[in-house]
Amino acid sequence: MEGGFAKGRLLIKDIGTLVGFGAEAPGKLAGGEMRGLPVMADAWLALEDGRVLDGGPMSVFPGIADWNGLEVVDASGRCVLPAWVDSHTHLVHAASRESEYVDRIRGLSYQEIAARGGGILNSAKALREMTEDALFEVSLERMERLMRMGTGAIEIKSGYGLDMESELKMLRVARRLGALDRIPVKTTFLGCHAVPEGWSDTMAYARHMVKEVLPAVVEEQLADHVDIFCEEGYFGLEETRLLLEEARLRGLPAKVHVNQFKATGGVALCVEHGAMSVDHLEVLRAEDVAELATGKTMPVALPLCSLFLDLPFTQGRALVDAGCALAIATDFNPGSAPSGNMHLAAALGSMRMGLEPMESLAAATTNGAAALGLEKSVGGLGIGQEASLILTRPLRSVEEALYAFGDPIAERVLLRGQWVN
Ligand code: NIG
Ligand code: FE
Repeated sequence: MEGGFAKGRLLIKDIGTLVGFGAEAPGKLAGGEMRGLPVMADAWLALEDGRVLDGGPMSVFPGIADWNGLEVVDASGRCVLPAWVDSHTHLVHAASRESEYVDRIRGLSYQEIAARGGGILNSAKALREMTEDALFEVSLERMERLMRMGTGAIEIKSGYGLDMESELKMLRVARRLGALDRIPVKTTFLGCHAVPEGWSDTMAYARHMVKEVLPAVVEEQLADHVDIFCEEGYFGLEETRLLLEEARLRGLPAKVHVNQFKATGGVALCVEHGAMSVDHLEVLRAEDVAELATGKTMPVALPLCSLFLDLPFTQGRALVDAGCALAIATDFNPGSAPSGNMHLAAALGSMRMGLEPMESLAAATTNGAAALGLEKSVGGLGIGQEASLILTRPLRSVEEALYAFGDPIAERVLLRGQWVN
């Protein structure tokens, strides 16, 4: 498929359930607002040059004055949903790690596998051996697979390079994926993902990443955000503070891996420094929820990681009840979540995190967009937003779309006005 916004006009009519349409983008939805994505029964939606032009109920459909070059699609009995926004992925990586998966089935833990040189370091070794072009090709294939599943915008992290050259290589690949212009791609520098071989001092490595590699990343304009794996056995509060302070000086928002296995005060530190989001939160204490209730930092849940590693699911209900604008993303990566299936992630929001289907949908669309600062352009179908949507198979409601958890729901996917399947 071509990049950019497709030229042309498309009318989707007799839509059973249209979600996310309005005069404006739905934007970031917090607390009780998360049930408020607009829903319209028996509706039409007009799209032009890759953007939403207009829409409304069929009862007041104005008719078609100009048939010239107009494609008309009948969506009776189906839902039209905004395309997913996946605000946390490690999509650029060299290879899968299924042998570690088998090791885990045989009884080793994620941490034990990492301690034996598996895990992130295993991915780093494979990535360093791969050329930038080869890395681009495997990553593009993954991105196209996600797009066919209905993902209309993504974030991509570095973090499998772990040295200057390889971190820059990863970010260049992510930028090249964005430059194809098929969907918006935001990039994140995650140099502090694990301490590679050759470094005995965690702080010395973090300082190298923050003081030497980050400036090179900034110089080449390769990252939109920074990230660090703030976790026992990886990077502590001091290293996290160092990165947050440097990022603030450079005007780069922070999105931080925190509370995956242990809660050690990382949430409070990130909120204090005005981080854009804190991601994972499988382990969440009452004081962490209270910090996030201030609304300064968005929580991002990664339920596919909980499912795959058998970790607790983020307490979505508690976060939304506390007034947070919760987002859901996949964490797509070869170690803890080898899937980019946003539909499954959203369905788990309801099955395991206590969210109502409308809340899960908001978390996986407009709030995912807000977690990337993209809520004006994607995550909804407001007038002027990108014409990126999922036309489902026959489904009665949003509730059914999230209840049908294991089966694909997308009959067709339109991204920036172009059918991708
Ligand atoms: O988000 N937790 C840290 N990083 C990734 C997993 C990385 C890996 O195992 O390759 C995550 O779960
Ligand atoms: Fe992650």
